[in-house]
Amino acid sequence: MRAYLRERPLAAFDRGRLALLRAEAHRVLAGNWREGSLADGTPYGFTCPAPPRYRHQWYWDSCFHAIVWRHFQPARAREELRTLMRGGRLDGFIPHTIFWHDDAGWRRAPFYATHSLRGDRGTAHIQTPLLALAWELVAAHSPDEPGFATEALDGLRLHYDWLGRHRDPDGDGLISIIHPDESGLDDSPKYDAVFGWMSHYLPGYFWLVERSRRLRYDSRAIIARYDEHVEDVIVNVFYALALRSLARLTGDESYRDRAIRTERALIELCWDDERGLFWDLAGSDHTPLRVSTWSSLAPLALPSLPEPIARTLIEEHLLHPRRYRAPYGIPSVSMEEPSFHAGWHLFRCWRGPSWINTSWLLVPALRRFGYESDADRIVASCIRLVERHGFREYYNPLNGEGLAARRFGWSTLLIDLLGGADGAGQTPSDGPFVGSLREELRSMGAEAAGEAARRLNRRAAAAAAAARRLRSG
Ligand code: GLC
Repeated sequence: MRAYLRERPLAAFDRGRLALLRAEAHRVLAGNWREGSLADGTPYGFTCPAPPRYRHQWYWDSCFHAIVWRHFQPARAREELRTLMRGGRLDGFIPHTIFWHDDAGWRRAPFYATHSLRGDRGTAHIQTPLLALAWELVAAHSPDEPGFATEALDGLRLHYDWLGRHRDPDGDGLISIIHPDESGLDDSPKYDAVFGWMSHYLPGYFWLVERSRRLRYDSRAIIARYDEHVEDVIVNVFYALALRSLARLTGDESYRDRAIRTERALIELCWDDERGLFWDLAGSDHTPLRVSTWSSLAPLALPSLPEPIARTLIEEHLLHPRRYRAPYGIPSVSMEEPSFHAGWHLFRCWRGPSWINTSWLLVPALRRFGYESDADRIVASCIRLVERHGFREYYNPLNGEGLAARRFGWSTLLIDLLGGADGAGQTPSDGPFVGSLREELRSMGAEAAGEAARRLNRRAAAAAAAARRLRSG
């Protein structure tokens, strides 16, 4: 299957160090594992992204978790994906967030796109739909349960048919998102021009949710009535990858044809030959959102991408020292963009920091096109990040600082980049944690204080430089 499965030990890291990393990843996933059953007996088992800040089940996080779990305990990988399916509706819709064991709580409720402010089991909006891709990867690691590959095909078909029917009203092969966080890239600067005062990090986001609620989250009605919707590149890249997986799982070529249609539409409609990047398209007139983010590079993961386009993306952007070639990981926004912000911010996290899922998606493409040493360099920098700071939610790409939530589930994707893990089926040793709210607040406070101090330092350095210039001039 795809390059994600490759075994490629990094020469500079001895086996002992990598084994420690794997053990720690296993410990993070095990510490975040939640299982139980609802009052009606429905069982659930999933990995929450990072307690206590993220206590629920998130769609794309769960897919990433399952992809890593399959190296350690494939039974948990399967349970995570089955639970995600179980959280969906009979018509094929699967929520962005599912509240299994814990209500969203009144403080959080307004942030979640639910039908009512209380009492919903899940949100009414979607997240980047990679379930079939994760299903296929997990099935390939399930020799103990070969039936897993086919047990949910009806549900998977329904899911991807729902997406095609409800999210592609103009029929161009690209599905749309109606809220910025549906991609998972909540506050990415690429959405500023579309959502403006209703952006994810601004108070107007409440209105965006509220107006969807008033239309009962009928996406076709919302797209027809409002122009704030996006045919998002990264969402469609994962959609196409998942459709290809579904075609292989079902043997139904119509899903392959749909994947090809989406891939062609990405090239015909989103590719900008002059800038050498893919742009999201906003609104009914397909206005390109010309902000360079890792989403613009995401089509590198498509097996069908023409080589000249891939080389442009890699050489002119991914490996360009002023754009994405940072000391640590791959920044989520090109360092050249005025909106690039490397450090921590309470409400903004996709405006520059390096996330591990970015490397997970893009590094295999670097290898596929022969940029092995660059791929090794990026993976090695991610290893250093995790060795120094643990599996954090994201990292500063310039100085390598670990930021935001600790023991963040999908950062363990690094293990998948190393080619998996030894010791499948073992139980990890007990970890010292299940984070408390106080601990989390303390770490957020420390991050905020650190960021303020750095800002002061920068200002003091700028003032000193100005004074020097005055003296010498
Ligand atoms: C943040 C991220 C989103 C993720 C969620 C749970 O909101 O932006 O992508 O799914 O946290 O980890």
